Formats: sequence, structure tokens, C-alpha cells
Amino acid sequence: MTDSSAPGKEPSAIDTSVPHSARIWNYWLGGKDNYPVDRAAGDQFRQAFPGVVDVARASRQFLTRSVRYLAGEAGIRQFLDIGTGLPTADNTHEVAQRVAPDSRIVYVDNDPLVLTHARALLTSTPQGATDYVDADLREPDQILAAAPARWTSTSRSR
Ligand SMILES: C[S@@+](CC[C@H](N)C(=O)[O-])C[C@H]1O[C@@H](n2cnc3c(N)ncnc32)[C@H](O)[C@@H]1O
Repeated sequence: MTDSSAPGKEPSAIDTSVPHSARIWNYWLGGKDNYPVDRAAGDQFRQAFPGVVDVARASRQFLTRSVRYLAGEAGIRQFLDIGTGLPTADNTHEVAQRVAPDSRIVYVDNDPLVLTHARALLTSTPQGATDYVDADLREPDQILAAAPARWTSTSRSR
């Protein structure tokens, strides 16, 4: 992975004059990382599709239930969260590590805005690890090449 994947790298300029998909999603989830233009676009979208807020929240709840099951009953310890979005309540590593503190999570997103918020995702337990890869899901080889390195002990608990 290139240096551009490193959280803390100089972020791209954030344009708050146009709506942004990750911030609109954050708005629908009840988050605070959004701007008036995102809320206006989110409300406009909701007029066309009134169920969208329920869809966003149900989708997030599904993620939580799935990760809890995988870390618990299924015994999974490595998670690749592609299309991470902005940090929210109950991020994947928080759900997994509550059940299994040694869980290791690599987040992947291609949005520069998400990269600027990625530090909030790097709050691993001492027993586990979290990391962030700035990559496009349409380039799975790049993701699969980067993730194992991020799962090693060098990236543990920051
Ligand atoms: C609707 S949000 C989902 C957030 C979170 N996973 C959730 O369940 O609440 C979709 C995320 O996917 C990311 N995304 C969209 N296309 C992508 C791509 N080609 N590669 C990587 N990430 C992508 C967006 O930047 C955005 O953060």
C-alpha cells in the first residue's frame, strides 16, 4: 500500500458546498459528521424514497449483528470492512473486540473524506489490531495484498 493509505496524511480539501455520499449516510444514521448541504440532499432523497433512513439504520444494525455473530459463535478473528464509511457508534472493530478482544480489523474505503476520519477507527484493544487501507473495492488484488500486512503485529493497537 502506498503512503496515501496512512491516516494522518495531508487530507484532500473537503468541499462542503456539494453533498457527499458518506456524509449523507452519516446524516441518515443520526451522526454529526455532515453539513447543511448533505442534510438538504438527504432530505430531498428521502422525499423520493421515504424508507431510506430505515434502510440505512437497518443496514447498520445488520452489520452489528453479523459481526457479533462472526466474532462470537463463528470464531472469526480477521475482518475486512470494505466501504467503511465515516466512523459511527459501534464500528466493526468495537463490535468484534467486545466479543473477542484479539480480533483484527482492516478498514477499506476509497473516499478521501473517510481517510481523514480514519484515526477514530484505529482504537484497537491491546490484544487485537485495527488498520485502514485507502483502496478501491474494484481493485481486490490491491486490497488482498495490503490487508495481511496490516493484520500483523506491527499494526497493533495504536
Ligand atoms: C453507504 S456507505 C456504508 C457505510 C458503512 N459500511 C455502513 O454500513 O454504515 C458506503 C461507503 O462505501 C464507500 N465506497 C463506495 N464505492 C467504493 C469503492 N469503489 N471502493 C471502496 N469504497 C467505496 C463510500 O466511500 C462509503 O464510505
